[in-house]
Amino acid sequence: MLTWHHGWVRARTLTSIAVAAGAAAVGYASVIERNWFALRQQDVPVLPAGTDPLRVLHISDLHLTPGRHRLMAFVRSLAGLEPDLVVNTGDSIASTEAIGCLLESLGPLLDRPGVFVYGSNDLHSPKPKNPARYLWRTSSDEYTTRAPDLPWEKLGEEMAEAGWLDLNNKRGQLTINGLDIALAGVHDPHAGRDRYELVAGQPDQAAGLRVGVVHAPEPQVLDQFTADGYELLLAGHTHGGQLRVPGYGALVTNCGIDRARVRGLSMHPQVAREDGKTAWLHVSAGLGTSPWAPARFACRPEATLLTLVPRSAP
Ligand SMILES: [Fe+2]
Repeated sequence: MLTWHHGWVRARTLTSIAVAAGAAAVGYASVIERNWFALRQQDVPVLPAGTDPLRVLHISDLHLTPGRHRLMAFVRSLAGLEPDLVVNTGDSIASTEAIGCLLESLGPLLDRPGVFVYGSNDLHSPKPKNPARYLWRTSSDEYTTRAPDLPWEKLGEEMAEAGWLDLNNKRGQLTINGLDIALAGVHDPHAGRDRYELVAGQPDQAAGLRVGVVHAPEPQVLDQFTADGYELLLAGHTHGGQLRVPGYGALVTNCGIDRARVRGLSMHPQVAREDGKTAWLHVSAGLGTSPWAPARFACRPEATLLTLVPRSAP
């Protein structure tokens, strides 16, 4: 009888500890880490020899709602970096009320050269769903079957009016610090809105840098950019996995990219092409989360300052 009683007390204690640890992890992920913003810095040797460094601020996946004051304050602080170029790879808003907050947060960054593409969540308001579903499927079908209900056109108009280049199935050209940059982007392939054929073909060979921009880093889009000669590819969407297992990494990427390249800098493709063409790929882990999955674990929200340097640099 004594043994049975001790066993029961022990099981109850272990259950209590597990419940408390789970609650602490959820609290940490949703209250602390979700608001523990990081600025990651990375050099990318992609410029012609003899070119001055170019500082590119890559932001993505803000999923902004009016209540996210800490996120807005962090984004506001990024203007202090005075980047040469800002790249926004989409999922900027998660509410019909968020555009004003976004523009206010970007503030002086809108006065700098910038480019943007949309993510599926700029068009579709967030919906509650079981986060575990990402373990066996991506969210792509949710966007191809629903009509847009967020003011994505207004969002694009505001950024374009500020002077940022709209790269949704479009090409663009910028000259920054004397460097000619050829750019192309597609609307979000995750929502089936990419039309690569509208930007296909060789970019300007006289440009010093060729940049491809897309929200979801779907390999077939990255392949097309690389085949056409784009040397730097920028994407978001993955949230770096959002909930990562320490020592293992992301459980899912929610798109076709492999887990190892779910965030950060890598090469594309990983297996060399016959023509030797290759590109640097930077996937931002993003700054926000869906309001219905407000937690990040072992995957701090981030913006990235990429310093582009000459290829010959050590
Ligand atoms: Fe996102």
